[in-house]
Amino acid sequence: MTRKRLGILISGRGSNMAALLMAARNPAWPCEPVLVLSNKLDAGGLDTARDYGVHTAAIDHKIYGKDREAFERAVDAELKKAGVEMIALAGFMRVLTPWFVNEWAGRLINIHPSLLPLYPGVDTHQRCLDAGDKVHGCTVHQVTAGVDEGPVIGSAEVDVLAGDTPATLAARVLKAEHLLYPRCLAAVARKGGTRAREDSVVDGVTVRLYAPKG
Ligand code: GRF
Repeated sequence: MTRKRLGILISGRGSNMAALLMAARNPAWPCEPVLVLSNKLDAGGLDTARDYGVHTAAIDHKIYGKDREAFERAVDAELKKAGVEMIALAGFMRVLTPWFVNEWAGRLINIHPSLLPLYPGVDTHQRCLDAGDKVHGCTVHQVTAGVDEGPVIGSAEVDVLAGDTPATLAARVLKAEHLLYPRCLAAVARKGGTRAREDSVVDGVTVRLYAPKG
């Protein structure tokens, strides 16, 4: 098996990134992380990536001012220099232009902390609690021009519990994210797979995965 060269874009602590780097320690996982790139020079995830021995880069979007595409062209150049074949967005807090999305169409994947199409955008945990939902979760999807709109690759549900706050709910959803993302990326790298339900318990959190086999 030839592993797909994976680029991971982050802006912060990078716990999803770490879940992918951990998955990649298994030689049977079909992606090889070759670059972690952040738009924040002080993103905590950069240190974690270095601890895993993965090459890192940081490109400050602020120096490009309002020219989002110029920033993305710099990011694109780094990704191509590293021979990246597919990209995982992992808490990357920049909305991408149609130029970048087109350039990487079908090879650009995101994880979002809600059960899309519910709650695209920010504050998903608060919005879920405000709506009185009984179930919440996360979604891995292809990135298209509309924010959090692309075709779904897989999702994972967790129950909302009495007394949940946005923080407790976010922590529970994060466990599901770490389980879901490696599965879905593996399915994309292997070009497909049918979604099936599988229940797991991670650190006491029951997660219902609806994802292709990883
Ligand atoms: C995650 O909740 C992810 O779904 C969202 O941003 C958050 C990033 O967290 N897109 P981390 O940096 O992966 O810990």
